[in-house]
Amino acid sequence: MLIHAVTPFPGMIDPLCNESMMKRAQEKGAVSIEAVNLREFTADKHKSVDDAPYGGGPGMILKPEPIFLAVDSLKSAYPGTEPRIIFPTPQGVPFCQAKAVELAEEKHLVFLCGHYKGIDQRVVDSLVTDEISIGDYVLTSGELAAAVIIDSVVRLLPGVLGDFDSAEGDTFTCGMFDHPHYTRPEEFRGMRVPEVLLSGHHANIEKWRKQQALKRTKERRPDLLDGDIT
Ligand code: 6GU
Repeated sequence: MLIHAVTPFPGMIDPLCNESMMKRAQEKGAVSIEAVNLREFTADKHKSVDDAPYGGGPGMILKPEPIFLAVDSLKSAYPGTEPRIIFPTPQGVPFCQAKAVELAEEKHLVFLCGHYKGIDQRVVDSLVTDEISIGDYVLTSGELAAAVIIDSVVRLLPGVLGDFDSAEGDTFTCGMFDHPHYTRPEEFRGMRVPEVLLSGHHANIEKWRKQQALKRTKERRPDLLDGDIT
């Protein structure tokens, strides 16, 4: 898979995508993740990527030309990949695990990182295939949201997770939260590990884990058990 994040601030994407699992996924050849500097597609000496809104009002709007040029250049550098072009915005459709699974099937994802209220609508109307929100709150810009979506997609690519932490038991795939976990020591500051986990009785341990997972899910997200969530 190829992933590009078009942004005036490549420094917000690079560190998140070149550490830990995202770094490993790239080293294994499962994905290539690159930030594309929007300022390289400007023509003026100040390399300006935004301008005042027509009709007045506060805030600046990302100009269409550099974004179209950046997307044109990606399309001609990677002909035939027909990228999904994703605009992270709080006004988009809510992101969910099913969308991550869907995006993980694609060959090429391009993220256009803009600012709240701030991208020329012609970009959205003629380039963007998906407007996605990562939740009901507002971020200052799209880079963090793009990195969240990228992480959730890349971990699903074949070979990225080891068997041990495989995606199969994911909360939003199996419809339930995980059970609590404990490691050594048996007692820490007066808090003991539940006896059942020390018992060596596998059937009882399994039963306890299922009960705990159900209890946690019921308390925190009863909607998951109703099957309301995709
Ligand atoms: Cl995708 N972008 C921004 N800027 N803010 C958000 C968001 C996205 N999702 C929730 N808040």
